[in-house]
Amino acid sequence: MAAQIIDGKAVSAKVKEEVRQEIEREGLEVGLAVVIVGDDPASRVYVNNKKKACEVCGIKSYEYALPAETTEEELLELVDTLNADKNVNGILVQLPLPKHLNEEKVIERISPLKDVDAFHAANVGKIMIGNYAFLPCTPAGCMELIHSAGIDVSGKECVVIGRSNIVGKPMAMLLLHENGTVTVCHSRTKDLKEVCRRADILVAAVGRANFVTADMVKDGAVVIDVGINRTEDGKLCGDVKFDEVSEKASFITPVPGGVGPMTIAMLMKNTVMAKRIQG
Ligand code: GUN
Repeated sequence: MAAQIIDGKAVSAKVKEEVRQEIEREGLEVGLAVVIVGDDPASRVYVNNKKKACEVCGIKSYEYALPAETTEEELLELVDTLNADKNVNGILVQLPLPKHLNEEKVIERISPLKDVDAFHAANVGKIMIGNYAFLPCTPAGCMELIHSAGIDVSGKECVVIGRSNIVGKPMAMLLLHENGTVTVCHSRTKDLKEVCRRADILVAAVGRANFVTADMVKDGAVVIDVGINRTEDGKLCGDVKFDEVSEKASFITPVPGGVGPMTIAMLMKNTVMAKRIQG
């Protein structure tokens, strides 16, 4: 049986509409600063989409587009200015940064109260403990999609492929908080296929086009595809070989139109949360 497709665009529109109504109802003034360094085309697309989402929700967005040769000192100075700016509730520095800039140092400079990506060590620590204000946007978006399909994580075998700080590790934590039995796989995992075949919920965050094939998926599994890759002919595709896996899964997220739009919707939610915790 063909899988039901989880519509990330629809769920994301719903989340953004809820954020918009919340802001309107309470007359909140919310601001998000988005910092982009250099001219990576993918980063440019993401930043433009974030600005558009701010408009939809009634959040004021401030863009800082810095040249690729910006020094670390200059970037840290901008972060300090934004930390002190009362109109800015959330600060997002688009990654990856050019090689000469230390990402960790820049992230650690952002006030944890304005860290709407939840990348700061203080916020990562809170996620670990399960007592957090901000959820990291992409994993939070995946959880929202799982919930939207009416899936209960409790007691399920969950397999996350990928162990990045942005997706794999926090994703594992969120599934664990909902009482999933979680396995995190990576490039050194032995017998990846067998491990993946155990999954009731399989999350692919590898960054390799068509990496997850039907023989790695259990019948009736829920498959969440975090990948955004380009094939040789320039087409956008996920980490999951959609055509064959969708014949086996019970639910699947498409690329595009799955996790991608959710990440931005969760960012909007976090920005309002930032406003609230700043009082
Ligand atoms: N680059 C890729 N994904 C993200 C994200 O969620 N936040 C930031 N700041 N940069 C990214």
